[in-house]
Amino acid sequence: MSNKSRIKNGAVVCAGGDYMKQQATFDPVIEARVEELLSRMTLEEKAAQMVQIPYRMVPREEALDWARKGAGSFLHVLGDDAREVQSIALSTRLGIPVLFGIDAIHGHGLNEQATIFPSQLAAACSWNPALVEEMGRVTAREVATDGLHWTFSPVLCLGRDPRWGRVDETFGEDPYLTAVLGTAIIRGYQGKRLDGNESILACAKHYIGYGEAVGGRDACDTEMTYRKLRDVFLPPFEQAIEAGCATVMTAYGSIDGTPFTASEKTLKTILRDELGFDGLVVTDWDNVNSLVERQHVAENLDEASLLAAEAGNDMIMTTTAFYDSAIRLVRTGKMPESVLDGAVKNILRVKFRMGLFEQPEKRGVPGCLGCAEHLEASRALARESIVLLKNNGVLPLAPTVKKIAVVGPNADDIRAQYGDWTYFTHPMPNPEHPPVRPYVTVLEGVRTLAEASGAEVVYARGCGVIETPEDDLDAAVEAARDCGAILLVLGDCVEQAGEFRDRADLSLSGRQEELFLRLKTLNIPIITVLVATKPLCFPRVAEGSDAVLVAFNGGMFGGLAVAEAVFGKLNPSGKLPVSVPHHTGQIPVYYNSLPGWHGGTYVDQPAESLFAFGEGFGYARFAYDNLRFDEKTLTLSVTLTNAGTVRGAETAQVYIRDLVSSVITPIKRLIAFEKATLEPGETRELRFQLKPEDFSLVLPNERRVVESGDFQLMAGTSSKDADLLSLTFRLTVTN
Ligand code: GLC
Repeated sequence: MSNKSRIKNGAVVCAGGDYMKQQATFDPVIEARVEELLSRMTLEEKAAQMVQIPYRMVPREEALDWARKGAGSFLHVLGDDAREVQSIALSTRLGIPVLFGIDAIHGHGLNEQATIFPSQLAAACSWNPALVEEMGRVTAREVATDGLHWTFSPVLCLGRDPRWGRVDETFGEDPYLTAVLGTAIIRGYQGKRLDGNESILACAKHYIGYGEAVGGRDACDTEMTYRKLRDVFLPPFEQAIEAGCATVMTAYGSIDGTPFTASEKTLKTILRDELGFDGLVVTDWDNVNSLVERQHVAENLDEASLLAAEAGNDMIMTTTAFYDSAIRLVRTGKMPESVLDGAVKNILRVKFRMGLFEQPEKRGVPGCLGCAEHLEASRALARESIVLLKNNGVLPLAPTVKKIAVVGPNADDIRAQYGDWTYFTHPMPNPEHPPVRPYVTVLEGVRTLAEASGAEVVYARGCGVIETPEDDLDAAVEAARDCGAILLVLGDCVEQAGEFRDRADLSLSGRQEELFLRLKTLNIPIITVLVATKPLCFPRVAEGSDAVLVAFNGGMFGGLAVAEAVFGKLNPSGKLPVSVPHHTGQIPVYYNSLPGWHGGTYVDQPAESLFAFGEGFGYARFAYDNLRFDEKTLTLSVTLTNAGTVRGAETAQVYIRDLVSSVITPIKRLIAFEKATLEPGETRELRFQLKPEDFSLVLPNERRVVESGDFQLMAGTSSKDADLLSLTFRLTVTN
């Protein structure tokens, strides 16, 4: 992107948005090997190379047959099974190695020995790219040690509608934060070289705008325009490709009626021609068959296979019938063999780059799964993912509190704490598998720290996330009656989130709010902790609590981090990457909305969110002043002071608003941030080097341009106007 704009004479000169054709950088040696191998492949071998086999979902013999046929990839296969498949593949006529893919999306989670990290949404609360990159590096090392090559991660979808089941898998609602954290984890996964022994392929998914499905209904149409796609949803993918992401996954849904799987404009014109993507595109699960069965844009599988192949999908996930269809289409002259050649070249190029032909099996670092260094990386990220949203002084708990009640459905539930996509919380491989230590729930963390401080802990579950006959609110009230503080841990459960699990009502389910109101009658300080996959609507509980902490799925040590924050062993530094609605009816309630009248409120609900994007504080007290902008160098400066009495970390955020623009532009948009740790009394000047494209917008003709005019720059501790210093300046663009 940077070579599209330059600064001249203090004004910004920006290419008129005609994306310069980013020429992909092809290595001539690899290209020669690709062409040579392709020239020896039969039509059958080419068709097989494009098929990805779901190892656990087909009979073993069928899976091994696919290996004999030369299937290009398998997913969700581990250990000896993977070694067996690979040895069969290497013994075929051309011996093309198989690519093994897996959903290692917050650690190598489908392996029970692995290090389980906070979810992407929880990790995003840290606003710490270095820790997110470390999560990627550790995950890659553990996946590679299992002999696997490829993780279907990161999710670069935007979590703008919390009704959608998969918000937990996103880095939140903002394109810029998603782009920064997405490229960080890609660097962690892919390392310096794809053929590195601890490097694995990253996968930018789900391309594109998948989370924008109407009604938050998974895999439904997004009703987007291409202007909005380019303006809001493309930037994270653009940055991922500039960072060298090796693969992209096609989303389930559709854009204004065109399935993404059948969209040549997104898969070729934008992804390849404009962004210069030179890796491989894999469909999501059974997308080709969905063109027939679910989206009804193809009469039969041959038609669907033709649509998908011609649109630019290289690897076909789990629709194994594509193999016969592709051969039939070529044999009957309905599809030129060159269409398959293009896809196979993209696949072979990635395999050569990975050094697969020299070393078919990654080795990683034997014995590293769950090692101390990796566990510490998960612990560090969990600690920075805790968000403190309210505190009337009850936190950190005073040493005078000698008896603490820990109550609520998620206080001691490791499944709720882990969230989706782990070995026992996802339908694969085995929901019956018992949780494997080490992990620390909130209750266990509180018990450990309370022991050290000489306080007594009583526990009562009170109720489930979903009402159960075992609910016993009376027992919880009795248990808490003579305590000095109540730690109430509420939230949701894995059955209420994930693929195909969207929610139309985000209020606290079951009898959770009733439990809160019953405890409230005791007039004991209540610290409410939300352990959840996503934002939930809990205005009355938030209003009545003395403190509120949000701990989205925190991984192995999420419970420890909550306990450390409560006892003051940890100074919370997390900030929300997603807005929290008062009520489901407010949705969409993301912060970077376009202006409108809307009367500033609903007749029955406030207009603003319950908690805002970027909101969160700790036990220090930060002050901002002296906001300045150097128009010559496009440098924004602000002075940050820790006016508190303890060391703390603060994420200063920078937002922009284009005050008059050819299309309606957001009331504010995040363009930079910095997380700084300051000692008590320390003052530091933060400087942000802005780029011309920070001022850009996308016109109805889909061109990205920078226009002359007045801009507002803001800096502060959250996206709320009251938290931001602001200045305006005039930009003159000279062409
Ligand atoms: C799933 C998901 C996708 C995942 C893939 C392989 O259905 O949509 O995110 O990577 O299939 O498991």
